[in-house]
Amino acid sequence: MSDKVVLAYSGGLDTSVAVAWLKETEGLDVIAVVVDVGQGGDFNKIAQRAISAGAIDCIVVDARDEMAEDFVVPAIKANALYEGRYPLVSALSRPVIVKHLVEVARARGAGSVAHGCTGKGNDQVRFEVGIASIAPELETLAPARSWGMSRAELLKYAHEHAISVEAAVDKLYSIDENLWGRAIECGVMEDPWVSPPEDVYELTIQRETIPREVILSFEKGIPVAIDGEKLKLADLISLMSQIAGSYGWGRIDMVENRRVGIKSRETYECPGALAILLAHSDLESIALERDLAHEKLRLEPRWAELVYDGMWFSPLKQAIDSFFAESQKSVTGDVRLRFSPGNCTVVGRRSELSLYDYGLATYEPEDTFKHEYAEGFVQIWGMSLSTWARIQGLGTSK
Ligand code: ARG
Repeated sequence: MSDKVVLAYSGGLDTSVAVAWLKETEGLDVIAVVVDVGQGGDFNKIAQRAISAGAIDCIVVDARDEMAEDFVVPAIKANALYEGRYPLVSALSRPVIVKHLVEVARARGAGSVAHGCTGKGNDQVRFEVGIASIAPELETLAPARSWGMSRAELLKYAHEHAISVEAAVDKLYSIDENLWGRAIECGVMEDPWVSPPEDVYELTIQRETIPREVILSFEKGIPVAIDGEKLKLADLISLMSQIAGSYGWGRIDMVENRRVGIKSRETYECPGALAILLAHSDLESIALERDLAHEKLRLEPRWAELVYDGMWFSPLKQAIDSFFAESQKSVTGDVRLRFSPGNCTVVGRRSELSLYDYGLATYEPEDTFKHEYAEGFVQIWGMSLSTWARIQGLGTSK
């Protein structure tokens, strides 16, 4: 059995204590892996903290483009909103981190990987089920689930092990951020009746007052340009977040059902994600044939549930991805979004492949619809019901 463990490291209190704890209690050499999924922060400082906590190495991986292109893209194609509202911010980043933990574990001959999640959340599920799905030979360790330390005890442990945790001392909330948005939990928000305090928000502070329109262009379901300017996806998401956020739009306040059976009050700010998803699903309204659109709508919540539940690498999720990918061949075009304080709405859409047929839709003289066909169509459509009404229906004695 290898005596090396690869730890998903964030630089926060829990994972810093985990470094020292895994070394001291389990006798393991800890290789810390920090995956940059757009959370921001000083990665040199974070890496130094891992080393000072006792890690033998700390590897920083820039996975922003990978997160955008391989993880956010399928979520956009899926119009993914868990329980109809949450764009899966944290749920999308965990499989990215899992991939890199596994890569490092294999490259360095580690027998196990570790994370700093507690036993109450979804993220432990996503890490462990994710690892089991792509590297079943690796053992998973969850020190924060076994050490049984309170926050005060963690701080004491950190202090005794000379781990610098300046920012963590007075931390009021549990925050998880990446390029798709920001999740804020805990503190006074644990009472679902209490409004989230204004100070929890960072991405959605209203600065703009004058309404503005933005054209978002898609190619085969992928957002590619804002106002005609082509951008790589990670940059496009960041610009869209800034625009939508500057109108104070993109907040979500909800009580969601965690995989572990707990209802949890969640506050999110996802201005870019929500604007992109709004535009994408709107473009589909002209780009997708009716039955395809309806079947896709049935599969979308299932996809979001699978990803929320840590099943990113599952064969069902992959099969649904293939369906969505096939559906996006025609999702090319532009959507016009209008921003005003606290608001974002779609005010126009166009596509070379649009199935919107003006001649069929119009009530003007250009009308091409064959009105005479409608009579027979409607009669046959309703024939089963008119038969039933005559023989068994409400007006009969049966
Ligand atoms: N409830 C969200 C989810 O399960 C957000 C989790 C955020 N994680 C955190 N450590 N604060 O995806």
